[in-house]
Amino acid sequence: MTTITRQPAAAPGPANQPICGAHGLTKVYDTDAGRVVAVDNVSVGIAPGSLTAIMGPSGSGKSTLLHLLAGLDRATAGTAFVGPHVFARMSESQITKVRRDHLGFVFQQFNLLPTLNAEQNIRLPLELAGRKADEEYFRFVVDSLGIADRLTHRPSQLSGGQQQRVAIARALITRPHVVFADEPTGSLDSKAGHALLGYLQRAARDHGQTIIMVTHDPLAVAYASRALILLDGRIVDDIAFPSAQQVMARMAELT
Ligand SMILES: Nc1ncnc2c1ncn2[C@@H]1O[C@H](COP(=O)(O)OP(=O)(O)OP(=O)(O)O)[C@@H](O)[C@H]1O
Ligand SMILES: [Mg+2]
Repeated sequence: MTTITRQPAAAPGPANQPICGAHGLTKVYDTDAGRVVAVDNVSVGIAPGSLTAIMGPSGSGKSTLLHLLAGLDRATAGTAFVGPHVFARMSESQITKVRRDHLGFVFQQFNLLPTLNAEQNIRLPLELAGRKADEEYFRFVVDSLGIADRLTHRPSQLSGGQQQRVAIARALITRPHVVFADEPTGSLDSKAGHALLGYLQRAARDHGQTIIMVTHDPLAVAYASRALILLDGRIVDDIAFPSAQQVMARMAELT
């Protein structure tokens, strides 16, 4: 297996400080059916180089929290931050710049552009940032994810698992300091899922990338250095070096 030859650029903020997180983060949706508090006063700090799993029942606010932490959505109250960048005090264009320079995001529904092929989708964030691809790293990512032979396919010509891996490659290609992934193994078979989780674990442990993933899979949390359990928009458990059994037992209590 190839190794990553370059470390990510220096992370924003000192090493002993959280690389990102939230203070009193709250998101309320007002709908015809009533008021939904999707994220309820969450305060959390994420250590650089950690792999955090966010778990919780369907509708507990995991995707909403991930979007807020990544600056993809605006909070109703409180704020998310990345290094010194406090989103509540920033304009949309300032937040977009932080996202482009420091963050990668894997969407639950992939969000690949249908008119671009796999390779063009993967390279898109580099083009948007006006950055040149590191070809060695591009090959490393597509080889590691097993999609090297599908690069000329459009999303509609790919299986769900292949689309998911293209979406992951797209999030990794800029070597972001923080990668947010919403159920990154949701469409993968168990072999591909474990290969991806091993890859994410090494990216965090050996290369200092910070990974925050939402997952429903208790086996996935065994790769994580921390599990946050969400219920009704609140963090109800924060477990260091979680085991699958521990998390399964806790989830059984909650659902
Ligand atoms: N745009 C929206 N408008 C109104 N309510 C919303 C909106 N987005 C999410 N919600 C509500 O907020 C709550 C949290 O949704 P979210 O998608 O964050 O859950 P989740 O934990 O990711 O669930 P799942 O595991 O099913 O993906 C849900 O009750 C959902 O119905
Ligand atoms: Mg979700």
